[in-house]
Amino acid sequence: MRVGICGLGTVGSGLFNLFATNHDEIGRKTKDAPQLVQVGCRRDHPDCDLSSVDVTRDVFEVARNPGIDVLVELIGGTDTAKDLVLGAINHGKHIVTANKALIALHGDEVFAAAEKKGVSVRYEASIAGGIPVVKAIREGLAGNRIDWVAGMINGTTNFILTEMSRPGSNRSFDDVLKEAQDLGYAEADPTFDVEGIDAAHKLTILASIAFGIPLRFDAMYTEGISRITSDDILFAAELGYCIKHLGVARRSGRDVELRVHPTLIANDQMLAQVNGVMNSVMVGSDAAGATMYYGAGAGAGPTASAVMADIIDTVRGTQVPNLGFNDLSEPNFTPISSISSSYYLRLGVEDKAGVMANVSTVLSNHGVSIEALIQKDARVRDAQIVILTDEVVESKIDAAISELESLDAVTSSVSRIRVASL
Ligand code: HSE
Repeated sequence: MRVGICGLGTVGSGLFNLFATNHDEIGRKTKDAPQLVQVGCRRDHPDCDLSSVDVTRDVFEVARNPGIDVLVELIGGTDTAKDLVLGAINHGKHIVTANKALIALHGDEVFAAAEKKGVSVRYEASIAGGIPVVKAIREGLAGNRIDWVAGMINGTTNFILTEMSRPGSNRSFDDVLKEAQDLGYAEADPTFDVEGIDAAHKLTILASIAFGIPLRFDAMYTEGISRITSDDILFAAELGYCIKHLGVARRSGRDVELRVHPTLIANDQMLAQVNGVMNSVMVGSDAAGATMYYGAGAGAGPTASAVMADIIDTVRGTQVPNLGFNDLSEPNFTPISSISSSYYLRLGVEDKAGVMANVSTVLSNHGVSIEALIQKDARVRDAQIVILTDEVVESKIDAAISELESLDAVTSSVSRIRVASL
């Protein structure tokens, strides 16, 4: 199998070097070791000696090259990447990609084209970098009915929330985001990561391979972390929780909920221990029970590891349906207003008699019951009330929040964060 890499950024350079570093290991694991013969890249990479391969500045040349059997797409984005991948498929090449947006948004079209041409499309590296979670779900857990998947699948948001949570840190979202950018963990335009879109792309794919449903990014509820404050982190800690950006896909019969958002996780849960840029995915299945996967979700080595595993699978000719199922069933997607959860609420209030009673009355009128409550008076900071509710349907919380925000004694908008029940 002759391999062409398109894109020589962080992952492409990591893959290029992995071919050399682990040449012997890979050779022992395949009868017909993959040979790297061409690289398509806009510019060379300082970490890569490209003298042993053909280099082209036009990635479409790799797609057309009759001497290439497997095209590795590492250019990212959707428009050019889609044209490149469809072009390569049309020329009869197998595809390996790390591109979650491409699979989440255009996977159906790409898989259909590949099936027509009898070639494979593999995408392990698109989710959680070095963690082989696609393989775990599509192959390792193939004998199970999977009921839920939950995970921290974006390293940037996990890094920011972890730094904001350091004892005594009291740092703002903007302050830590700037540090993440300086360290290279966050892009100059961090929108995709901090607003949850990157995680939503990944969870779209995870839900499809877990439940056998079509790729439906548009059915996902997506909320990022930019509104989380250091007060939220402190109050959550006082209640025994940390705040993480969590993706949750859950099914019950034909009903499926898909959501990524900031989430309170009890400190004694294993996911609460996943810090910094690390990723983790938990899978709830009927025979194996809950299983958990942990590792680096990004970076040259970890992502190249996942890409190389897909190249080796391609060489071995492993046959797995694209999304793990021979046919997909259309579920009923549950709108976010119909999910049930416990909620953390924080509101600024006037520091005067009767305010607490008013707040509890509004909650009780909407059928929201209080599990825990913290009140900080104005001598310490702005008067604030923090409430942890019992589980309730989200539309009731929405209605209660609207009414709370209309009270004269409530001085801020209400901050609302869902609480995980895993
Ligand atoms: N931007 C992603 C993250 C990198 O922060 O996890 C890998 O998808």
